[in-house]
Amino acid sequence: MFTMNKVFTKNADEGYLLAEKQASHYFSSLYKQLSQKTYVTTLTNDFASWKQHHLGSNRLLSFFSRWEKKDDSQNYNKYIQWMEKKGKLDHYLERSVSYIYMRDLGKTLYEPETKSRIQHVVQSLKTQLTQTSDSLEEKFDMSSLYRWAKKEGIESTFIWLIHKLKTVSLHIPNGMDATHAQRKLIKIIAGVVMHAIEEMEEDLLPTERSRQLNEAIRLGYAYGLTYPFIDDLLDSKVLSEYEKRAYSELIRTTLVTGSVPDLGEWKGGNKELMTFIHSELKQAFDYIKVYQSPEKMSSFLEQSYVFFHSQEEDRMKDLENEKYTNEELFIPVILKSASSRLIVRSVLNTPEDEEFESRTFYYGIYNQLADDFADMFDDMNAGAVTPYTYYLTYHNKRDDLINPFELYWTVISHLIHNIYHSDPMTCEVMLDRAINGLKRFKQRIGTKKYHEVMKVFTSDITEFNHMIQQLVQKATDVDFFDKLLRDHIITTINNNREEQDKFIKTVREVRNRINPILQLPYETSTSIEENSIVEAANYSLEGDGKRLRPIMSWVIGVDVYGLDMTAIQPLLKSLEYMHTASLIFDDLPAQDNAPIRRGRPTLHEMYTTATAELTGLFLTQKAVKEQASLDMFYPKTVLNLIQYSAQMTADMCKGQAMDLESKGKKLTLEQLNEMCFYKTGLAFEACLIMPAILAHADEKEMEDLKTFAYHAGIAFQIKDDLLDFEGESNQLGKLAGIDAENDSSTFVSVLGVEKAKKEMWEHYCLAMDALQEMPRHIPFLKHLLSYFVNRDR
Ligand code: IPE
Ligand code: IPE
Ligand code: MG
Ligand code: MG
Ligand code: MG
Repeated sequence: MFTMNKVFTKNADEGYLLAEKQASHYFSSLYKQLSQKTYVTTLTNDFASWKQHHLGSNRLLSFFSRWEKKDDSQNYNKYIQWMEKKGKLDHYLERSVSYIYMRDLGKTLYEPETKSRIQHVVQSLKTQLTQTSDSLEEKFDMSSLYRWAKKEGIESTFIWLIHKLKTVSLHIPNGMDATHAQRKLIKIIAGVVMHAIEEMEEDLLPTERSRQLNEAIRLGYAYGLTYPFIDDLLDSKVLSEYEKRAYSELIRTTLVTGSVPDLGEWKGGNKELMTFIHSELKQAFDYIKVYQSPEKMSSFLEQSYVFFHSQEEDRMKDLENEKYTNEELFIPVILKSASSRLIVRSVLNTPEDEEFESRTFYYGIYNQLADDFADMFDDMNAGAVTPYTYYLTYHNKRDDLINPFELYWTVISHLIHNIYHSDPMTCEVMLDRAINGLKRFKQRIGTKKYHEVMKVFTSDITEFNHMIQQLVQKATDVDFFDKLLRDHIITTINNNREEQDKFIKTVREVRNRINPILQLPYETSTSIEENSIVEAANYSLEGDGKRLRPIMSWVIGVDVYGLDMTAIQPLLKSLEYMHTASLIFDDLPAQDNAPIRRGRPTLHEMYTTATAELTGLFLTQKAVKEQASLDMFYPKTVLNLIQYSAQMTADMCKGQAMDLESKGKKLTLEQLNEMCFYKTGLAFEACLIMPAILAHADEKEMEDLKTFAYHAGIAFQIKDDLLDFEGESNQLGKLAGIDAENDSSTFVSVLGVEKAKKEMWEHYCLAMDALQEMPRHIPFLKHLLSYFVNRDR
């Protein structure tokens, strides 16, 4: 019987054979050019005219190399400014944008339409880079990205993506690199989005543009997911051999039949991981499927099959095996690099473009050889077979082996002259890129090792190499914006990770310091009744609270204002006492009527309502007592603090009253914000302002802190409302869904989940603005804010 499966099987195998044939044809043509060394003469000529624009005066040179060596993020802006002053910025952006058009969009640089598009992008990028004083960091931080998304009308997609990236990163197992996975995923999504933007018509309506961007991001994610969860996973040592085989089979079946088979009972140690991956990939696959016409789907499947199969061929290779032929080494490389690029376009369901397809097919290996060159030592350490690692290992034993470095130059020459018709801009950009690649490699591995490597790869082309090395040493104006961005992103991610680790460590340490001092002592001289209140208070304090408020105060007091940590201890206690009291009141039957708090029965459930009420009052009084014992500070200062604190507590009561009155009502956004500022934001403000009062901080700084606390506090409450709706009681330590039960007016009940999330990110951005306003850089607050909106409890 003729089944659907059969059709696809035939297509898949036939498709692969066809692609292999094409690749082998391409390979022989390259091989011929390589053995005749025609590329040497051609490129020598090209370089002769190229270098006229790239060998500047010595004075400029020293300037340039001084800049080039500095790669700390602070200097990016200055570098851009310096280039502008020297009249280099236009060329820099032009070659950078042109390169992206060629590599990521598969364009030719001589098409008049592409030329004018490139000029347009160059100009707007230039404006972006020179007209604001924001650092690159600020241009690409979460709040700028969110604002961009908002401008494009795709905030929901942005929020969805943040959630997805977080989930993916949480599921990257040990033994794989979560940051790397995220970066790769983002890069793929960016590539698909760029493609989609390029395909858009000039006079597209904004709503249609938003729709297409939304789709591109989701499709990009769907396709991008295959990198960490198929390619990298199979490359890693996470799965057992058995699991790898089973998983590969599953992927293969998917690509051959066009639908994801059930996972079945997963036999292997990584059941949980595989269940997650299977479900996520299945969703992704089904999402892509919805967007494809049947013919497109089958060509998408074919390309994916070629991609997957050629990757597998490469993966199976063993560096110990001395017998691979050149074809065995290079054909999968041609296939995988070409198909991965073709898929980006086919996933978008764009119209056929034969020229694009053939160009992309020839182009792939160029990039792959450049990448494998840069990574040769990492690959060597990992024992991976790439043309370079294999050549390094066997060049002495096997004189038939093709030298991949020579092949790389052959490809460059072939592309410039045979594929891109000797277009001057293409020539310029490719030679810039090649010299820059070598410069970067040299800088990274050091001069000595660089020359050793070069010796191995250039023994047959010494003269050509001599010229190249002179250019590597002396040529200027060969750097690219995407590399700057890449370096910057890596630095930012690393800095961020360091800061975040520090944040987590600080939170943990401070919490451990605070927890033991919170307990109230039992009073021996007084009656049993008073001790039972102490016991009740301790019961509430012992619960699994996050202690955010005293932690914030600690960091601001000790780390930012340099106050003595023992001196401010009473302040820390008072903050947690007041907060705990507010929770006790909030949970009472007359208020939210909550059964669980901090992972255990609420106080009124455990004791009685009367005890709970008295304990709340008792704790607020203990808080005042603590504040009044801040005896290492001037009395006037402490009085100021107590006055502020009393007002704040009174205002919080107002907030709670607003909350209770609003049950069953539909508040306006303004009213919601006001209510949340009073019931929640103010307490966060107090945690920042009270140490500032003790430290006599200046007014302006206090104002900035208040603005930050206002937005951060509301963002915190919106997240609290969202968690009540979406979270899990166990995780939260309190009963989820209670707001709906109480018919409370919350961000979720008033705006709905989607809009509540947008509003939360809105406040996130405004809080970030407030931080950027502050002359003092306080990374803790940035991470605290990000924790506020990303937390799960
Ligand atoms: C809960 O505060 C009350 C709100 C302001 C939403 P937390 O979420 O900080 O509660 P604990 O202290 O960790 O229990
Ligand atoms: C309470 O808000 C704010 C206070 C600090 C009293 P919620 O009522 O939403 O707090 P949870 O969800 O019970 O912790
Ligand atoms: Mg409440
Ligand atoms: Mg409550
Ligand atoms: Mg709540």
